[in-house]
Amino acid sequence: MKYQCPICKQTLLLQAKTWCCPSNHRFDCAKEGYVNLLPVQNKGSKDPGDNKDMMFARREFLNKGHYQGLSDRINELASCYGKAAKTGLDIGCGEGYYSHRLQASLSALGEFTLQGLDISKSALKYASKRYKDIDFCVASAFEMPFADDSFDFMLRIYAPSQDDELRRVVKKEGILITASAGEHHHFALKQLIYADPKLHMTGSSEIPQFELLHRENLTSVMCLQDETDIGHFLNMTPYSWKLTDEQKSTLVTEGLTCELDFKIEVFKAI
Ligand SMILES: C[S@@+](CC[C@H](N)C(=O)[O-])C[C@H]1O[C@@H](n2cnc3c(N)ncnc32)[C@H](O)[C@@H]1O
Ligand SMILES: [Zn+2]
Repeated sequence: MKYQCPICKQTLLLQAKTWCCPSNHRFDCAKEGYVNLLPVQNKGSKDPGDNKDMMFARREFLNKGHYQGLSDRINELASCYGKAAKTGLDIGCGEGYYSHRLQASLSALGEFTLQGLDISKSALKYASKRYKDIDFCVASAFEMPFADDSFDFMLRIYAPSQDDELRRVVKKEGILITASAGEHHHFALKQLIYADPKLHMTGSSEIPQFELLHRENLTSVMCLQDETDIGHFLNMTPYSWKLTDEQKSTLVTEGLTCELDFKIEVFKAI
């Protein structure tokens, strides 16, 4: 992947293990392999992105395969709508669970290289140590270090983004697949917490300069019995701190049954 300098926007070239632009702005590759292209002034906080506990819980939970159904469905849609893609970007890729499964799936159809981007350095430390066939950079989805029209395909799972910036880096007719919470997602947890739980408000399916090609809800019921899995699941959701210790220990001992409802959308850049 060719990166763009986050300071002056010129193309970065790799010299030994340092990305440099003609104005001599320099960005070293970390020993794990990722490059940090997030200017200090754009960091917002000392350690931006998800906190370590949430990230650890999500990593352990995903690696057990509990959300593999979502990954498989995304890969099916990617193979259908993005089968000719040669370059891809996973925005807010976290620790790369979905990225590496997508890379395996699309590269089986032909030449395909994937770039992962996340604002969290600790997530990318893990991802780049583990998934050597994917390039990773620390950067913000709101100001991505890529030239215009860089990608044939983009994935965004539960991560923030900015409409113009999405459209800027994708090629015309490029494909964007997004996944976010559907109305009934994790409803069983909400029922434990709120007297009058509300269905999740899902956002609009419109992104300027993109055409919606497909939309679906992937629903299932997840039953967890293993104590560790239940603990990780609770910690990776935003609800963990709203449950009492008593509610948590009941869930851990009695098991947890919970709706999964993923809203998946496929867009084409116009
Ligand atoms: C809920 S997690 C989803 C991670 C991954 N896509 C997955 O589903 O496993 C959201 C991710 O977005 C990242 N993130 C948050 N704000 C971001 C930003 N402004 N730019 C890039 N990534 C961001 C977080 O660090 C985190 O890894
Ligand atoms: Zn520069």
